[in-house]
Amino acid sequence: MQDTATLQEEILRLKKKRNAIILAHNYQRPEVQDIADLTGDSLELARAAAALDSDTIVFCGVDFMAETAAILAPEKTVLLPVTDACCPMAGMVRAEELRFARSRHPDAAVVCYVNTTADVKAESDICCTSANAIDVVNAVREDTVIFVPDKNLGQYVARFTKKTVLPWEGFCLVHDRYTPADVTRAKELHPDAVVLVHPECRPGVIDRADHVASTSGIVRHIRNAPGNEFIIGTEIGILHRLEKECPGKRCYPLSEKAVCVNMKKTALVHVRDALISHQPGIVVPEEIAGRARRAIERMLAVP
Ligand code: 13P
Ligand code: SF4
Repeated sequence: MQDTATLQEEILRLKKKRNAIILAHNYQRPEVQDIADLTGDSLELARAAAALDSDTIVFCGVDFMAETAAILAPEKTVLLPVTDACCPMAGMVRAEELRFARSRHPDAAVVCYVNTTADVKAESDICCTSANAIDVVNAVREDTVIFVPDKNLGQYVARFTKKTVLPWEGFCLVHDRYTPADVTRAKELHPDAVVLVHPECRPGVIDRADHVASTSGIVRHIRNAPGNEFIIGTEIGILHRLEKECPGKRCYPLSEKAVCVNMKKTALVHVRDALISHQPGIVVPEEIAGRARRAIERMLAVP
């Protein structure tokens, strides 16, 4: 078995040869984040996929993220090193269910979280991520919004808009597990710490937090915050970026159990093998990609 440093060197060599860029989500394993050209949240990675100059994108994340990259950059080869790295929440709404919901609320806009399949995006008016969900909902013309699939994010957005938000019944297996008691316990252990949580958390957890943000929003906040201690209510992979970019600040996980198993499936060997074989590639049929692209590009145009 090759050691980490040797594998990382091999990947960097192959990456150059393939004219590839490596994008990694903030929840990826530390050694994968370390070889990425960019580690970020869903919005930053989608923007990078569209903007960065390369023939190939190796997407270290989960399926909907690689699909979004493939939709935005159809001229590039998008590789998802582990095909079964999926987001269970994205499977909690299907295109036909959404069409039915739309038929029941014909005057509503459909806003889909980026954690959805391409065919759900194709049925939506506009996409959003955790970083821009409030701005996106406020930007649509309609007074009512069907928000899919994350009920917690939908309810969080509803706090910041006059529009009627009809949340779906989906949830994240990782963030929905935090309880208000977890926050109380963590605050007792670290009474001076600022509590930051992701908007996929339940309303009772959000109520007890000091700050709510996307994964990269959490990193930015801590980088610029005057305090020294922080409790982090999101997947623990983010602690690696926090250690690297916010040295001297102490970040405690709200729960050590907050692990997204799908985000952890991608190891360096998979990245290396994908670069050698140029597989597995993500291809979204243009009939779906074209309509999904419209929803994503509308989101990217929201100031
Ligand atoms: P971010 O866009 O905030 O990184 O969130 C993605 C995600 O899947 C959170 O669980
Ligand atoms: Fe999906 Fe939750 Fe994993 Fe994010 S943390 S990819 S929402 S399962």
